[in-house]
Parts: sequence; structure tokens; C-alpha cells
Amino acid sequence: MELQIENVSKAFINDGNNHIVLGDVSFTVDEGQFVTLLGPSGCGKTTLLTIIAGFQSVSGGRVLLNGRQVTRPGPDRGFVFQNYALFPWMTVRDNILYPMKMSRVPAQEREQRLQELLAMAQLEGKEKLYPHQLSGGMKQRIAFIRALAGKPEVLLMDEPLGAIDFQMRQILQEELEALWLRDKTTVVMVTHDVDEAIYLSDRIIVMSARKGKILEDMPVELPRPRNRKNPKYVRSKEHLMDILKVAINTQPEQTEGVRKLQLACQKTASQ
Ligand SMILES: Nc1ncnc2c1ncn2[C@@H]1O[C@H](COP(=O)(O)OP(=O)(O)O)[C@@H](O)[C@H]1O
Ligand SMILES: [Mg+2]
Repeated sequence: MELQIENVSKAFINDGNNHIVLGDVSFTVDEGQFVTLLGPSGCGKTTLLTIIAGFQSVSGGRVLLNGRQVTRPGPDRGFVFQNYALFPWMTVRDNILYPMKMSRVPAQEREQRLQELLAMAQLEGKEKLYPHQLSGGMKQRIAFIRALAGKPEVLLMDEPLGAIDFQMRQILQEELEALWLRDKTTVVMVTHDVDEAIYLSDRIIVMSARKGKILEDMPVELPRPRNRKNPKYVRSKEHLMDILKVAINTQPEQTEGVRKLQLACQKTASQ
């Protein structure tokens, strides 16, 4: 399913002042592509991802999913939250069944799908446990298969491995890739980790700290699974690190979208 981000802008009012987080962001994600949004903390990655999810509205522009405008959350989009956000009062089983019920997977199919997903994530036999009884890595895998359970067309992941220590993180990156390769769902992932972005993505979009301006839109053309010692891998990593340094300090151009938004903000402020 094709995902189009068209001139998306977003402003928040903080302490009575308008704060433009996303100025004028546009890009298209092709069906089956694994795209990563990379950028410094506070640059608007989560804001953009939650707009795509339909959890919050745009101030300008629009998001299209296969040509249809996104206005609210829907089962066509799965979301993995930064801190997993499993329901603590539900067992593993109920956590995974929940999105299936939401997206109206027929009751007779649910059990089979549950077992498939548990097997995929190597979590067979864990279905009666509660989230607090699981390790960080298990919770992460459950958050991931829960997001897949409703058969979304697009999988949105906000720093899905952010809370996981370095070694476990590399193992989970491999698992995540293997899971993704099975059904090639369209993915938009957010991270601030350059290595993770290169290891997993078909394409990396680097956002600047100011108004989410896109500084680079880079394909990653390395065979999977990726070898971190491949000179091309190492070069890509250095290149992205350099861009990230710029990303922290970039002043965006005054595009038409930003001007319009600033004008609209001034109007609301003076009312
Ligand atoms: N609901 C909100 N109200 C006001 N400001 C917000 C809100 N959500 C995010 N922001 C601000 O928007 C900016 C971008 O936040 P976020 O999208 O979470 O960044 P990132 O995920 O890249 O770290 C931050 O300055 C943050 O304080
Ligand atoms: Mg964030």
C-alpha cells in the first residue's frame, strides 16, 4: 500500500506560543518498502509517525494511504509504541487478540493466527503470562507481533528497540528483519540510531531539528542480512553521522507551506 505524505505541517501551542514542529514535509513510501525516519531528539519524528497513524491531526497538508486521506486511526495501520504499551492487565494472548478483534478478523481464524504469530516470534507457551512476567526482549517481540496481528497494510514503529541494551538490540534487529522479510509489510520506523537505520532500512529519511526539514533521502542498497563490516556499510554510517551533525543545527528554508503556517499561527495568536 502506497503512503504519501504531502506538505504535512504541524504546530503546537506551548505556553501561548506557537511552535512549528513540522514545516512542510513531503515524501512517498512505496508498497513493501522499509523506510526509516532518522533525526535528532525533538525533531518531530514521533509527531509525524502519530500523524500517519491518525492519532493526531495535521495543521496543514495531508497523508494519503493508497490515495485515501488519513483522518483517524484504523486497522490498516499497526503501531509499535516506543515503550511497547502492552496492556498490563491482559495476558500475552489477549494482548495479541485485541487488534484482531478491532480489525474484525473472524473468530475462527484468530486462534490460528495467534499461534502463527507466537511461533514466528518464538514465544510459544507464553500466552498465559502477563507483560510484567516477561523480559524486555519478549515484550518487544510481543509489541511487534501485536502490531502485525490485525494484518495492517502499514507498520509504524516508534523506536521499537529504544529501551533495549546493545547486544540484545542487535539480536532483535535480526529477528525484526526476519519477521519483516516474511510478509514484506510496508514499514515506517523511527529511530535516532544510525546503525539500526542502516541495518534495517531500504531507505533512510533524515530530518533536521528545525521544522522537520528533510535533509537527506538515501536508499540503502546492501544485500540482506547486512554485514556491518562491509566497507559500503561503514561509509554509509559515517555519511549519516555527518548529516546528523548538520541536522541538529539546520535552519530550514522558508517554503510556501511554512509561510502559510506561520501566517495562520499569527492570525490565531492575534485573535
Ligand atoms: N502534544 C504536544 N504538545 C506540545 N508540544 C508537543 C506535543 N508533542 C510534541 N511536542 C513538541 O514537538 C517537538 C517534537 O516532538 P517529537 O515528535 O516527540 O520529537 P522526536 O520524536 O523526534 O523526539 C518537541 O519539541 C515536543 O516538545
Ligand atoms: Mg520520539
